[in-house]
Amino acid sequence: MSQSNDGQSGKGPSLTTRQGHPVYDNNNNRTVGDRGPTVLENYHFLEKISHFDRERIPERVVHARGAGAHGYFEAYGTVGNEPISRYTRAKLFQKKGERTPMFARFSSVIHGGHSPETLRDPRGFALKFYTEDGNWDLVGNNLQVFFIRDAMKFPDVVHAFKPDPVTNRQDARRIFDFISLTPAAMHMITWLFSPWGIPANYREMRGSGVHAYKWVNARGEAVLVKYHFIPKGGERNLTQEQAQAIQAKDFNHATGDLYDAIARGDFPEWELQVQIMEDGEHPELDFDPLDATKIWPPEQFPLRPVGRMVLDRNPTNYFAEVEQVAFGTGVLVDGMDFSDDKLLQGRTFSYSDTQRYRVGPNYLQLPINRPRTRVSTNQRDGQMAFDNQNTEQDQNPHVNYEPSMHSAPREAARDYPGHHPKVSGEVIRKEISRTNNYGQAGARYRAFQPWERDELIKNLVGALKQCDRAIQDRMVHHLTQCDAEYGKRVAQGLGLA
Ligand code: HEM
Repeated sequence: MSQSNDGQSGKGPSLTTRQGHPVYDNNNNRTVGDRGPTVLENYHFLEKISHFDRERIPERVVHARGAGAHGYFEAYGTVGNEPISRYTRAKLFQKKGERTPMFARFSSVIHGGHSPETLRDPRGFALKFYTEDGNWDLVGNNLQVFFIRDAMKFPDVVHAFKPDPVTNRQDARRIFDFISLTPAAMHMITWLFSPWGIPANYREMRGSGVHAYKWVNARGEAVLVKYHFIPKGGERNLTQEQAQAIQAKDFNHATGDLYDAIARGDFPEWELQVQIMEDGEHPELDFDPLDATKIWPPEQFPLRPVGRMVLDRNPTNYFAEVEQVAFGTGVLVDGMDFSDDKLLQGRTFSYSDTQRYRVGPNYLQLPINRPRTRVSTNQRDGQMAFDNQNTEQDQNPHVNYEPSMHSAPREAARDYPGHHPKVSGEVIRKEISRTNNYGQAGARYRAFQPWERDELIKNLVGALKQCDRAIQDRMVHHLTQCDAEYGKRVAQGLGLA
């Protein structure tokens, strides 16, 4: 044995290959003489380097930069003052004090896996609850609204915000070329360029499901519901200058803040509050309740507490847990359902589609993703299949189909009536009729405190200064429709008449 570290390394188990063979020399390749050349029969080296060559999987196409932690959700058993069973039969909410284990991943959206955490960008707020009825995922953001309302536009909005395909730099001219032709985005842009556009860290930010979902009770009756996670210590955000000062010293501050807080026992906590609306079109409202560019006004639809979420355990391996965790909007449990929001349907296809590519077709077999309940499925094989696929003791291992006369998985009995919404209409391609693109954006502008309005104008003017006159004019036109003063101040900042 000829080592170059003189056996000076610390104590620990002896090194093996992945085949379980002892590694006697981890420093010197097998060579002809000590000067080389290297011989090919170098199993340990070939395995080591070729596994290393494959250490990365594709990044998430969006939300690549993230941090995560384990925790629990504790139900109040009520929604506000009412028993929650009135609205939903979802088991995780029913019993006061009952805890459901969960995992959270927070992220920024646009840039790559090690990009700064101080950028003006929405923050992802993705949650996986390992409930007794299987997994529930809520894949939300910190802001309560979104840029677009049709899934067809998602690749476009993301391309416009991502770095330029030629220069590889994010470019305000590309962003506002798209945004100035997308009036639906004015509400989101008003939030994003205000001081609410850069959360101070992950612990002090809000989480919002953005879409309307449904809750279904034991009678099969449904209501529309929106989810909000309110940080216990309040929300905190950064001005552009504050963010730049942090970024000058630390581009990992949010990941560090979350990890260190949990490590020292200062567990971040949020209260889950929901807004409830009777299912239906609600013609009395000046917005469509299914429109993800709109907030349900809290004065009309009060936020009602349902439970609390606490993060109390750091991941032990970033890649295995935070990188490979896979959330999706289709992952609902009994007592929940989809609303008809067409943006939501687009997302529900996209998430598990990208995860089969990003992590692999058996991503649901990984410990971070698999439910904590029994899984009996006839899905078989594929890359990296490792579950003993017939999970039940008395199950006939020859049967991987349904129906069968043998002992094999069969359809589950329903405990409750299903929810059967009625839909009818012509099959068309058309924007929703109640767009009201400017109303809530203008109301938001007026609701900001004067210093927040000043920041918003400064940030927007700074970005739009880089754009062509035609884009500036279009943006001023939209912002003026939101609020005359809003448009005027941006125009003045740009030096336009
Ligand atoms: C049609 C619209 C949308 C589409 C097609 C879409 C698609 C995607 C895709 C493909 C990913 C990467 C997932 C992965 O690789 O695991 C992703 C991540 C994510 N998206 Fe969306 N998205 C849309 C809208 C939204 C909206 C409205 C929100 C917030 C309410 C949102 C929140 C997130 C979050 C939080 C993640 C990161 C999840 C994680 O931490 O792993 N997305 N999205």
